Amino acid sequence: MADGRNVYAAILAGGSGTRMGNPEKPKQFLMLGDKPILAHTVEKFCAGNYFEKVVVLCPESWVQKTNDLLRRYCPEFCESVSVIAGGSSRNATIRNAIAHLCENCNINEDSILVTHDAVRPFVSHRIIEDNIQSAAEHGACDTVIPATDTIVRSEDGHIISAIPDRSELYQGQTPQSFNLMKLKALMESLTANEEAVLTDACKIFTLRGIEVALVRGDVSNMKITYPQDLRVASALIGHCRA
Ligand code: CTP
Repeated sequence: MADGRNVYAAILAGGSGTRMGNPEKPKQFLMLGDKPILAHTVEKFCAGNYFEKVVVLCPESWVQKTNDLLRRYCPEFCESVSVIAGGSSRNATIRNAIAHLCENCNINEDSILVTHDAVRPFVSHRIIEDNIQSAAEHGACDTVIPATDTIVRSEDGHIISAIPDRSELYQGQTPQSFNLMKLKALMESLTANEEAVLTDACKIFTLRGIEVALVRGDVSNMKITYPQDLRVASALIGHCRA
């Protein structure tokens, strides 16, 4: 609860992990140390007791296996977790989470939804707490870290169009957190064209001119996308336990 508000979480595990090159098992189900990546993330979200309900969204054919996996690796948290099918895009997965929560929980106009990539298992309790606080205060927030590389912009992929000032650039991470009813209303207002170009839930707010606050992320809150990321994550897990 943040100031007595109902706070919910959606752990987005509905992707197929094509860049990981492991089509028979999406990356969120791969082992990291002694348990699957998804189990680390669920544990992090449930351990702090922040949420009324944590919804895990996975590919439809993985719902039963995900329930089994959570029973095996995080039995103490099964009560507060619901596993349901995600959608064909990341935003469709978020939409499924919203529909499930609106049908099954006591959502009101102050309810907060914290959305997080299942494949960012190193999210910290500080980042989750800051997200809840910031979403309660501002209505929407995004977790970011300052850009370290110079970012070069090119419209045609051959010639530089611009080199934006690095001091104003950040890399987006997750969680991204929202006033749930506001996010629902904005998602419902999207035209088909807008929907096609909106890969990011925060972008829906900025597109409508609504402010999104920044929450300080952490370099260690990495996303596991490619096989080398899994190698780095495995080294980090070993290091955390040393
Ligand atoms: N995701 C989701 N539903 C989708 C697509 C993605 O819940 N339809 C989730 C992924 O499971 C992941 C997060 O969004 O936890 C970030 O997406 P990304 O890293 O791009 O995952 P994938 O789409 O699985 O990866 P790829 O693009 O390599 O196929």
